[in-house]
Amino acid sequence: MEDEDKIKACVLKYYKPEQLDGIKLIGGRAIVTLVNAAEDQKLTNALKTDIAALDGITKVSVIYTAAKSFGGLKEPEDMWQIRGVKKIIAVASGKGGVGKSTTAVNLALALADQNKKVALFDADIYGPSVPTMLGYEGIAPYSMDGHTFEPFDYMSIKSMSVGTLIDKSQPLIWRGAKACGALQQLLCDTNWGDIDIMVIDMPPGTGDIQITLSQKVRMDGAVIVSTPQDIALIDAVKGINMFKRVNVPILGVIENMSYYICEHCGHRADIFGHAGAQKTAEAMGETFLGEIPLHYAIRENADNGTPIVFAEPESPYTEAYETIAKKIIAKL
Ligand SMILES: Nc1ncnc2c1ncn2[C@@H]1O[C@H](COP(=O)(O)OP(=O)(O)OP(=O)(O)O)[C@@H](O)[C@H]1O
Ligand SMILES: [Mg+2]
Repeated sequence: MEDEDKIKACVLKYYKPEQLDGIKLIGGRAIVTLVNAAEDQKLTNALKTDIAALDGITKVSVIYTAAKSFGGLKEPEDMWQIRGVKKIIAVASGKGGVGKSTTAVNLALALADQNKKVALFDADIYGPSVPTMLGYEGIAPYSMDGHTFEPFDYMSIKSMSVGTLIDKSQPLIWRGAKACGALQQLLCDTNWGDIDIMVIDMPPGTGDIQITLSQKVRMDGAVIVSTPQDIALIDAVKGINMFKRVNVPILGVIENMSYYICEHCGHRADIFGHAGAQKTAEAMGETFLGEIPLHYAIRENADNGTPIVFAEPESPYTEAYETIAKKIIAKL
């Protein structure tokens, strides 16, 4: 057994696997980081004694942290409890209209194609579009008991949208606490069942509601969508910085509307420029997850309630989303 595995075995005698955040070995010194574990002197001492008894270990430190899983908040009770959901990722962008929802919906379907149980939550109080994209626009969520909601079970994913509570023809007058209250209720009072990955389609921008969501929901990572233009990239950087500030890891950046291939002559046109998102991601030390071309089939299918991953499973566009989905699963 490697030294790290031996230390891990010691930790797992006292703590749950999800509470072990990391093990570092520097010379003979072992540093164990625990996350969301209650600080208990007796347990700490027992753990230290066990690790110190291993060959070659001269010093043991145990660090308790709450920062990672709790988005920088100190009180776990403050967090919104979303039952049954193992991993949560946010799909976000600093700028509006870059294809966040299109990406979130297709990515959710692509994750489901990788044999994951997937939920999609539409948190975009400014312009919820998941009901349109999945084809349940105008249908109210169903409640069996008058208190909780049943998620929409369309295509291969479960979903719920703030749009089911909003009259699209009226300007939205929810602000601050009211918007957050509605989001919390929908997220926490939906009977999601057993879900491996929940994808959250975030509202565009980096305002209070986005920050509150990122802090209150135990997010495992954020995916930033950008188009290649400078103006979108500047906002993508803002988005990355917002998540970093609340300790949500960045899973990577996707370049949407990356290039266009002409149906007729095969000519490739970089309408908004190309590779800007990749360069920005690299400059910020973040992963570049991939590029999605600009194509009318992607728009048409999203607008018609049959996202391309569902409508054209064999197309190169679906493949692009699936490649990104695989990278995300590997990172989670
Ligand atoms: N790769 C693509 N190719 C062609 N059209 C696309 C692509 N991605 C998105 N679109 C289209 O661009 C428009 C905006 O996309 P979408 O609604 O997903 O953006 P958004 O970032 O969620 O916007 P908002 O900020 O308003 O929520 C939609 O009509 C969508 O169909
Ligand atoms: Mg959207």
